[in-house]
Amino acid sequence: MTQSNASTKTTTNKKPQEKEEEQFKIRHVFAAFASLPRVLGLVWSTDKPLTLGMGLLSVVRGFIPAISVYITKEVIDSVVNAIRTTPHVTTMVWVFVGLQLVVNLLSQLFSTLSNIVQQLLQEKVSNRVQLLVLEKANTLDLSFFEDAEFYDKLRRASEEATYKPVQMISQTFDLLRTFITLFSMLLLLLQLAWWLALVAIIVPIPSFIANSRYGWIGYMRMRRESPERRMLLYLNRLMTTDDYNKEIKLFNLGNYFIERFHRLSDKFFEESKRIVARRYLTNFMWTGFSLITNSAIYVYVALQAVFDPRRVTLGSLTLYTQAVMQVGQNFQGVLDGISNTYENNLFVNTLFEFLEYKPVIVSPAKAQPVTSSNEIKGLEIEFRNVTFTYPGKDPETEATLKNVSFTLRPGEAIALVGRNGAGKTTMVKLLTRLYDPDEGQILIGGRDIKEYDLKALREEIGVIFQDYVRYYLSARENIGAGSIDQVENMNLINSAAQKSGAHSVVGELADGYDTLLGRWWNTGTQLSGGQWQKIALARAFMRDARILILDEPTSSL
Ligand SMILES: Nc1ncnc2c1ncn2[C@@H]1O[C@H](COP(=O)(O)OP(=O)(O)OP(=O)(O)O)[C@@H](O)[C@H]1O
Ligand SMILES: [Mg+2]
Repeated sequence: MTQSNASTKTTTNKKPQEKEEEQFKIRHVFAAFASLPRVLGLVWSTDKPLTLGMGLLSVVRGFIPAISVYITKEVIDSVVNAIRTTPHVTTMVWVFVGLQLVVNLLSQLFSTLSNIVQQLLQEKVSNRVQLLVLEKANTLDLSFFEDAEFYDKLRRASEEATYKPVQMISQTFDLLRTFITLFSMLLLLLQLAWWLALVAIIVPIPSFIANSRYGWIGYMRMRRESPERRMLLYLNRLMTTDDYNKEIKLFNLGNYFIERFHRLSDKFFEESKRIVARRYLTNFMWTGFSLITNSAIYVYVALQAVFDPRRVTLGSLTLYTQAVMQVGQNFQGVLDGISNTYENNLFVNTLFEFLEYKPVIVSPAKAQPVTSSNEIKGLEIEFRNVTFTYPGKDPETEATLKNVSFTLRPGEAIALVGRNGAGKTTMVKLLTRLYDPDEGQILIGGRDIKEYDLKALREEIGVIFQDYVRYYLSARENIGAGSIDQVENMNLINSAAQKSGAHSVVGELADGYDTLLGRWWNTGTQLSGGQWQKIALARAFMRDARILILDEPTSSL
């Protein structure tokens, strides 16, 4: 299913996205600043004192280079003055070198503090974002997970959530710091000649435009390739996960998958080669351009120091040149910062888009308790003219259920027989409200299931699906998962295991109920297919459910 969805998506989406690539406009970059309030809001709400500390440190550190450059000028001028006086008076040399030392020490201290604060803040925000994604995923309907486009977004949000917030924070505060350094350096330059400040700020602009353009192309490419990248991840998982290995060996699929991986990754590489080389060569060209300009300015100021030594002292020469270099570097830094902000913007947008999804299947405002009207133990189930088509399919020709009606009385045990794909599992999904029917009604205990609280309804139904989950956790947790509040209740777990026959399986395990199952862990024990089924069945017996549904998981019992 994933494969066909992935491939149709790339072919149908190719054209509009290629167009978007051409449409890179410089305004996109400035629009990126739209994300700054969101990023800062996220960071601020995660930890106020740390954010404040980080902001203050960035501001203070931003001023240090200008102060340092200014003191260097004073050191040199005081040395020149000391040379001129007889006898040589070196007091001022001592004072300025001392000041220089103090500033350097402070600078080190602030940068150390800033590292500490930043690391703590990054870890906290990263954890928070990952939790937000998990909590969101927890509320969403099954249909979201079966929708390729949504699934893509979920994957991107959750993968990037592990490292993007970290980058985002350092880049945002670096941007602030660099901006202040740039501003203070420009002030120093302005005192000497306004046009120096102007030249210094114009030179890095072309490089910035080129960089942003490549950033944009890179991002569009990532979006376009996302389904294929997922295929790479999937192939990787197929080849490296224990569950798939025996079939891959028996059917000799290894080389087939590896070949496929090879072709896909080669294709990505070819495209990277083209873009990466162009990006960095262009960058080199523009850097060369600014180096040449800086040298020209250097020569000009040096000649001034020679021919007009009273206006331009030796100290000023150092100040000029250092300030020009720093303006260039910091302006480049600010511009890079804007590109980064822009990429962060894209991440933040994906994240917030994801967080804005709302589940469709929810509890009603005034939920009814799940009780049977006639006080009989058990609940009546009725399907009334139920029609259902999976999302994306044609209701006329591809409906899974059409006008299905039947009634099951309390206490009845029935077996539903139908060919593969007839819709048996789908009926269970509808009964548990993983999906809602398009037409008709499903009633439990004489009431439409939509009137019940979702959680309460599901607690009344013990289901083991065909593709039940094998948790690579302890045997106790595997059974306790059926009623997670009772996961410590050994009496209940014991009796559920006895009912399903899992008790004897657990009895043979080295650590009994505390044995880790599956081969993922060093101490894990792998079970047979039938043993796993007994464990899963015990899960259904964990809850005091009045409806028990076994979707063929017991075929090998
Ligand atoms: N998530 C889904 N999205 C789209 N179509 C689906 C989805 N799940 C199932 N279908 C389709 O709905 C139909 C009914 O599937 P269902 O799983 O209910 O069959 P079943 O009766 O349980 O079959 P089996 O005996 O093989 O378990 C099938 O044609 C299947 O292709
Ligand atoms: Mg089925």
